[in-house]
Amino acid sequence: MERSRRGDKLLREAFFETAAPRAADLVLVMEIAMGVGLLVGARLARKGRFQQHAWCQSAIVLLNLAVVVVMMIPSFRVHVLPRIPAKLGKAYYALATTHAVIGTVTELAGLYILLSAGTSVLPEKFRIIKYKAWMRTVLALWWVVLLLGLATYARWYVPHLFRK
Ligand code: HEM
Repeated sequence: MERSRRGDKLLREAFFETAAPRAADLVLVMEIAMGVGLLVGARLARKGRFQQHAWCQSAIVLLNLAVVVVMMIPSFRVHVLPRIPAKLGKAYYALATTHAVIGTVTELAGLYILLSAGTSVLPEKFRIIKYKAWMRTVLALWWVVLLLGLATYARWYVPHLFRK
């Protein structure tokens, strides 16, 4: 009993008592939920529930756009951009920059699918034909970006995890 309570406490400390600001913890939890949400959305498509699939994936792509614009881009401009390219040899900046570059491509590709499949704003010749390939690629890239985001969080806020 005593032992498990101590275990609980350690777990709580491990997560909430990193050096991370509250906002970064919130973003972390939201991003993990969105990553899982996209997998759930992909399953909906496999089951033929295309309407629900479209709503689920669109909501996540748009919510993520808001998180990126409100939280990540400002943080990138303050903490990373002034140190590029001088400090790119350091994990702190290299992880965040790789994450930001692939993240930008992925979010834009997600928005392109959304515009192409869900609206008629794009002229016919700019609309996607191979939807499945685009959607699968974006889902895979999204998870690469998510894992790079987790690595960025770990490098920035979890003390002693990386050697300086
Ligand atoms: C598919 C798109 C994206 C996903 C899934 C994603 C996911 C994540 C996650 C899980 C974190 C860790 C939580 C945190 O430290 O706040 C993070 C942090 C970060 N991301 Fe992204 N991200 C994406 C796109 C971008 C883009 C486009 C940029 C471009 C500027 C960016 C820049 C950053 C920065 C600078 C941080 C550190 C923020 C901080 O803690 O102050 N991310 N991201």
